[in-house]
Amino acid sequence: MDSFSFTTVQGKTEVFYCDEPFLPPVGTAGGMYIADSNTAPIAKSAKNFRHDLPLVIIEAGEENKNFTSLVSILKTALDAGLSRNSVFIGVGGGLVCDLAAFAASVYMRGAKCKLVPTSLLAMADAAIGGKTAINFDGYKNMVGTFFKADEVYISPKVLKSLSEPEYLSGMFEIFKMGLLYSKDIYQIFRNQKENILARDEDLCLDLVKKAVEAKALVVSRDFDEKNERAFLNLGHTFGHALESVLNFSKISHGEAVAWGISKAILLGKKLGLTDSSYADEVCAVIHSYSRIDVPLLYDKEKVLLAMKKDKKNIDNKIRLILQKNICETFIYEASEKDIREVL
Ligand code: GLY
Repeated sequence: MDSFSFTTVQGKTEVFYCDEPFLPPVGTAGGMYIADSNTAPIAKSAKNFRHDLPLVIIEAGEENKNFTSLVSILKTALDAGLSRNSVFIGVGGGLVCDLAAFAASVYMRGAKCKLVPTSLLAMADAAIGGKTAINFDGYKNMVGTFFKADEVYISPKVLKSLSEPEYLSGMFEIFKMGLLYSKDIYQIFRNQKENILARDEDLCLDLVKKAVEAKALVVSRDFDEKNERAFLNLGHTFGHALESVLNFSKISHGEAVAWGISKAILLGKKLGLTDSSYADEVCAVIHSYSRIDVPLLYDKEKVLLAMKKDKKNIDNKIRLILQKNICETFIYEASEKDIREVL
C-alpha cells in the first residue's frame, strides 16, 4: 500500500492509498465505525470490516450534520465502553468525515480518529487537515474543532459510483488546489478533460495525491488558519453565498466554488490585480467543465446580501481571496460596488 505522511502542530497524519476500500485495523482499545446511509454498505463490504464493533449509521443529508447525530455517536461510544485510546473510524464523504472527527475530538477530550473518505471532495479536502464540524442554527460548519486524523485511507475505486455532480464537486476543489499551489494540477485540467470526465482511475488517483500533498503543505504551516490556510477559501465567499441563496440545492458545493472562483478571478481582472490572460483562461477552463448555466439561477442582490453576512468580513468590507496569477494568491477587502459589478 502506497503511503504519504505529513506533520502538523498536532502531530503526524498518515495517508494510505489502497486498491480497494480498506478499513484501518482496530487494536485492543477497541473502536467504532461511523457511516451514513449511503456509505454504510461500502463500510460493511470493505476489507477488514469487523462485525463485532458498533456501526453508527447517520441518515444521509446535510441536515443530519447536527447535534443529534453527534450525540448518537458519543452515546454509542460510551455504551461500548470505548476509551480515549479507542478509534473512531469515519467512512463517508465530507459530512461523515467532519462529524466522526468532531465526535473523536470531544470524546473524553480526544480519542483516536481514522478516516476512510468515500467522495472525491473528502479524499482531496475534508479528510485532510483536521477541520471538524457540525452545522448549527442554520449555519454550515458553525460548531467544530481542529483535530487531526491519525490515519486516512483513500481508495479511488469508490469514485466510479459517485453521481456526476458529486464527482465534479470534488474535481472543482482539486482544481482550486491547482490554482493555489500546483501548476501540474492546472495543466492536467487544461489538457486532460476527456480523461477527467471519464473518471480514469490512474488520473483520479494522481490528482488526489497531488491535491493531498498540496493541502498537507498548507496545513503543516498553518493548521488552525491563522494565516495562509485562508487561501483555501478561494471562490468560497461567492460560492457559499450562492449555495445559501439556492438553499443548498440545485448546485453542488464544488460547482458553487467553481463559479465563485470565476467571479473572484473576474473581480481581480476588473480591478487590474489579476493577469488578464490568466483570468480569461481560468474562466474558460471552468466553463468547459460546467454542467449548468449558473447565472440563470440566482438573484444578484440576494447573493450580495449573503456575502455580506460572511463571518470573515471586517468593517463592512467583504474579505475575498484573489490571485495575481497561478500560485500567486492574496487577500483583498472588496467593496459592495466592486462585487456587484461582477455578479
Ligand atoms: N476546506 C478548507 C480547509 O480545510 O481549510
